Parts: sequence; structure tokens; C-alpha cells
Amino acid sequence: MFQVNENYLKLPGSYLFSTVARKQKEYLEAHPDKSVIRLSIGDVTQPLAPAIIDAMHRAVDEMADAATFRGYAPDLGYEFLRNAIVENDYRARGCQIDADEIFVSDGAKSDSGNIQEIFAQDSKIAVCDPVYPVYVDTNVMAGRTGNYDAKTEIWSNVIYMPCTADNGFAPVLPKEEPDLIYLCFPNNPTGSTITKPQLQEWVDYANKIGAVIIYDAAYEAYITETDVPHSIYECDGARTCAIELHSFSKNAGFTGVRLGYTVIPKDLKCGDVALHSLWARRHGTKYNGAPYIVQRAGEAVYSAEGKAQLKEQVAYYMKNAAYILNGLKDAGYEASGGVNAPYIWLKTPDNMTSWEFFDHLLEHANVVGTPGSGFGPSGEHYFRLTAFGSYENTVEAIARIKAMRFT
Ligand code: MLT
Repeated sequence: MFQVNENYLKLPGSYLFSTVARKQKEYLEAHPDKSVIRLSIGDVTQPLAPAIIDAMHRAVDEMADAATFRGYAPDLGYEFLRNAIVENDYRARGCQIDADEIFVSDGAKSDSGNIQEIFAQDSKIAVCDPVYPVYVDTNVMAGRTGNYDAKTEIWSNVIYMPCTADNGFAPVLPKEEPDLIYLCFPNNPTGSTITKPQLQEWVDYANKIGAVIIYDAAYEAYITETDVPHSIYECDGARTCAIELHSFSKNAGFTGVRLGYTVIPKDLKCGDVALHSLWARRHGTKYNGAPYIVQRAGEAVYSAEGKAQLKEQVAYYMKNAAYILNGLKDAGYEASGGVNAPYIWLKTPDNMTSWEFFDHLLEHANVVGTPGSGFGPSGEHYFRLTAFGSYENTVEAIARIKAMRFT
């Protein structure tokens, strides 16, 4: 008789965003006349930029001609894309990263979930609390955590680094020594950031204790302040302790197109073993590459027209972010984020739990957001709204929230 991977049975409930989507669907089925505004999952709403569409059309035409048709992509991704990434995301920022240290993939979600495979089973992970659930759930699936305590909402054998209003939603170095440290800045879900000197402290710490930082930079395009680093490789010593994850979903609207990349510097070693070799082995064995058409679309992100068009798209979402942040503050909410990130993090009123506020908002304002407690225990009594809606829906959602009654 076959047996299942029992680690999966330890996972409580369903994936956070699946639960949110199910609740929204149930509400709409019960109230078909209502118009519900979705500011929950960080899914983009604006169409792909014209430069990207043009590049995809050209690539489709190439696929229709035997002379230019492409089959399997090279293991690490096409050089035209890896060169564009290195030039624009790294060399332009003074970071020493080479094209053969870039692994093109179908997105940061899968890479952030899969990267744990190349580490020892007994590696101790440290995560921010609240945190993007994929980092923890995939370590649970791999059997690297203990059990879940439903009361405290904490996994044993995981180091939690609380990010609260008291520490400006920025983690402090943990007392217990981790092997793997997951960091995401600008942060999902709180929208907070840390400065370059703060990030340098993490790099120095990781090098000192021999830990690896898995740095999720999916939201770097939303940085507006100059002292916030766009890449961990802006810090001295990051080449020997950091892996960086990037997405094209948020900066270029590829949530449905799927493209991302992971950087593993060749200097990042455990004894004589380079993590780069292990990930290359995994990538070659388990993955056949992002489609040619999509990689050409990714290349267009770095063209002059692409850059100009995407700057406007990011500005569009950031206008929403400012509207939400200011609207919530006007309405008396304690709210933060939204300055270097497309997420706004608000404290629930009247000490409501995150899920109570979710239900109240859905029922009384017909707005869907994401309960902070779904990201970890320190997210309880908080709530996340995204700036990825249309401007019209964002304005309407804030008007409804302002008009919402609690008694
Ligand atoms: C989120 O809403 O946190 C993200 O969109 C989820 C993701 O990127 O996978």
C-alpha cells in the first residue's frame, strides 16, 4: 500500500490565497447582485506594455518559421535575456554579477518554494513574521519543520523574527542561529523596507555565522526612496552568503505570463561545494526553461521603450498605493507601507481579528483584502490591501471603506 508524504498532512487549511478566493466566490454566489472589489492577492490588472506585446508577436512569428523556430531553451535561460538582466539589474547598480550566475525560471514563487531542496534536511530556517506563506509551507512539505500549534499559529523548529509596529516591521537578528534566512524587501505583506546599512548588517551576520540569505526582491521596482537597496548584492560580502530571487510579475505584469530568475553567485560555497552547481543540477534535471516567446518578452522589459512604459505602469499602481494609504489614514486607520511597495498594511479597528475584519469588509464594503494573520501570528489584528487594482476600483474601495459602519 502506498503511503503519502505525511508532512503535507501537517499543513493547516488551504493555501492562504485559495481560502481568500473561496470566501469571495461563496459571498458572490450568495449575493449575485453585489459588485465586489478585489484588493487581496497581489495580482496585476493593467495590460502588458506595448513593447512587450510587440516582442511577443515577433517571437510568435519566429516560431512559425523553420529557420527561426526554437525548441528547448538552454538550461540557464537564453543569453539575450541573462545579458539584459545583468546589464540592467546589476552592473548599472555597481553589483558584480555575471550572466552565468543567473537562472531564468517561470517565476519567483516556484523558485522561492524549490530553493530549499539544495539544503540539508536538518537546516534551521528563520523567517520574518508575518511572512509570504510559500517560504514556510515548502519547508513544511520537505519535512524541515516540526509541528504546527494551532493555538499559537507557530511551527516548531522554525525561527520566527517578529516584524511589528514597534520595530518598524523590520526583523532584528535572531538569538538562535539559523542556517537559512528568508528576507523579502520591499516586504510582502507589510510593505516595509530596510536601508542599505540595515541590509549590510544581515549580510555581515550571515557571513559570520555561515548562513545563507534567500533574498526575495520581487517588489524592487516599487522602491521610491534612495537609501533602500534594490539588490542584496549592493552590500559588501553578499556574493558569499546570498541568493536573490526576482520576478517579472510585479514590475512588468507577468503574473499570467510567468517569468522570473534566481541569482546564485559562484562564490557561495559550503566547503568546496558551490550552491550554483547544485541549483544548476536541479534546474537541468527538473526544468525545461521558460518559453522562448516569454523570454523575448522579458528581454523587452529592458528595452528603452519597455523601461519607459513600465515606469508609467509602476507609477500607476503607486498612485493607487498613495490613495489607499492616505484614504485609510484620513479615515482614522493606522496604516503603513505603500511608499516603496504596492502593499498597504493596516491595523484592524476595535481590536477585531484579521478574519473578523475580512468578513466585515466583505459584507459591509464588498471589498476583499488579505487577513494579516494568514501571514503569521504577528500579522494578527492586521490586514493587507494591494495597490494592483484599477484606479477607479481603488477610489471606489476607499470610498466604501470610509462609509463603512461598525455598529
Ligand atoms: C501576494 O499576494 O502575496 C502575491 O501576489 C502572491 C504571489 O506573488 O505569489
